Amino acid sequence: MTRRPMIAGNWKMNKTPAETRAFIEALLPQVDAELACDLLVIPPYTSLDLAGRLLADTGVRLGAQDLHTSPSGAFTGAISAGMLDACGCAYVLVGHSERRHVFGDSDATVNAKLRAAIAGGLTPIFCVGERSEQRAAEQTTAVLAHQLTEGFAEVAATEASDVLIAYEPVWAIGTGETASPDQAQDAIRFIRNWVADQYTASLAEGMRILYGGSVKPNNAAELQRQPDIDGALVGGASLEPESFLQIVQAAGRGAS
Ligand code: PGA
Repeated sequence: MTRRPMIAGNWKMNKTPAETRAFIEALLPQVDAELACDLLVIPPYTSLDLAGRLLADTGVRLGAQDLHTSPSGAFTGAISAGMLDACGCAYVLVGHSERRHVFGDSDATVNAKLRAAIAGGLTPIFCVGERSEQRAAEQTTAVLAHQLTEGFAEVAATEASDVLIAYEPVWAIGTGETASPDQAQDAIRFIRNWVADQYTASLAEGMRILYGGSVKPNNAAELQRQPDIDGALVGGASLEPESFLQIVQAAGRGAS
């Protein structure tokens, strides 16, 4: 089965609305209609409405970095799936390592967010990954299995088939230290096998699983050449249109 790669740019806490406009206006003329992959930008909340309007009817999709578990209510500072949808978001990150490790999102919270995203009509990109000490202790697959089991609790196959997963080893995020293509392939193969065991082989075959963690223009093609890697979740290198597009082009070469 051919899975269409996705290159997603997670801007984290970067870019004002004016900077968002400048990025998108520089990006769009360079986006080739014949692109071999899906393109997704994930700005901060304060830029989503503007980005949604600028990206409407273009080939570039919009995602959010997080969401609250409830559709509305007394949750000061929180944003719901419905609000994201109204800004033009089709995707949302769930369980990014910074949410888990900096903001303390538990497995139960991440599971509730995954289900809230699905219920709200958004496509979740569910993030998993081990810390460096867990890799050193050879616990990588146990950590991934745990995060997947907790994260997908009470998620039916019909719902899981719409989810993307991003494997992002915590030690590779923002450090310049990328997982080797073999390390990334092995972890993503493990995740795909988990999905096959939990759901069905065909669901697992169709599921897009991205790699994230210090993806740059010079390593994107080699990562993308791995049989189970279906694109990249890019942080730092997604902040400039040039490097983001170089990754998109490199991924296209890796995919072909
Ligand atoms: P990075 O971030 O590319 O800057 O390592 C990736 C991510 O956190 O999604």
